[in-house]
Amino acid sequence: MEPKKRIFSGIQPTGTLTLGNYIGALRNFKLLEDEYDCVYSIVDMHALTVRQNPTALRKACLTVMSLYLAVGLDPDKSLIYFQSHVPQHAELSWVLSCYTYMGELNRMTQFKDKSARNADNINAGLYTYPVLMAADILLYKADLVPIGADQKQHLELSRDVAERFNKVYGDVFVVPDAYIPKVGGRVMSLQEPTRKMSKSDPEDTYIAMLDEPSAIRKKLRRAVTDSENAIRFAPENKPGVSNLMSILSTLRGITLDEVASLYDGKGYGVFKDAVADAVIETLAPIQERFRRFNSDKAYLEEVMTHSARRAEAIAAKTMAKVRRKVGLAATRL
Ligand code: TYM
Repeated sequence: MEPKKRIFSGIQPTGTLTLGNYIGALRNFKLLEDEYDCVYSIVDMHALTVRQNPTALRKACLTVMSLYLAVGLDPDKSLIYFQSHVPQHAELSWVLSCYTYMGELNRMTQFKDKSARNADNINAGLYTYPVLMAADILLYKADLVPIGADQKQHLELSRDVAERFNKVYGDVFVVPDAYIPKVGGRVMSLQEPTRKMSKSDPEDTYIAMLDEPSAIRKKLRRAVTDSENAIRFAPENKPGVSNLMSILSTLRGITLDEVASLYDGKGYGVFKDAVADAVIETLAPIQERFRRFNSDKAYLEEVMTHSARRAEAIAAKTMAKVRRKVGLAATRL
């Protein structure tokens, strides 16, 4: 039998996760779990690129880990660990930064956005962030990387760096493909549906995975739509309605056409309530399991330690090869 192909993906532990994180990424982590050999990280070092409260960061790491488990990821099948527990991420990141051009990093739209938002702390980590992300992926020789559309540019950079390195040293890295859902790859803000849903925006613009049902319904009822009163998928002209249609389509497993034929003519109130029902029904069982996992610190510790050990075994092999190829001495004195 052919060995399974590998997946790597990660989520930053910054506060709670949103419905965008769930639909764009986390949901697919679970859907792909049986078909692939999966490595899922809580990328805590990436979170340091903006100033964090240490206590809140530690807590957020456990929150994200509990959410990984709550969506059903199975630690006997998938590795679930903290990025900072496997030192090879940082080690490879340094090497790869010597194979990444400043011109490439200058073009990253996320860097431009984040620098505008954190004008008083445009640190070097924010700039080299995509190199650490490339190291995450390439360390594990991942074939596929489930992500939302906003990470596509970073993934393309990882591919370019892998190809560049391979050209010089032979086939060291696997050149990874992105897995971006066709519907739901970019879940939009509920208040400004031309912007992506983001946890750094005001609370009424996003649904948090841990929001109470009443809050979810309230936010969706207040979601910005338009005055046409038609359920039709047209992201350019009807961004609000199209966003809600995508959410409903993904969560109910029906096509956008089916959403339109089910709800067109029924009015936005009925449609928004149907979206709220779908979101609440999806998140309620996840929230219940979340509470169980999040209060079991011993279990979380066991999973993270066990996974980190296995992750490090894979990472150390890749890193040994990289060291050899670039000419760093094989043993550390
Ligand atoms: P992060 O932590 O911002 O987001 C985690 C995942 O959620 C997706 N996502 C969305 N998808 C659809 N609609 C949205 N509104 C939305 N918001 C977020 C993101 O695309 C992402 O897949 N750099 C990454 C983390 C990372 C990583 C990696 C990912 C570090 N190393 C290696 C993959 C592989 C990030 O900041 O994602």
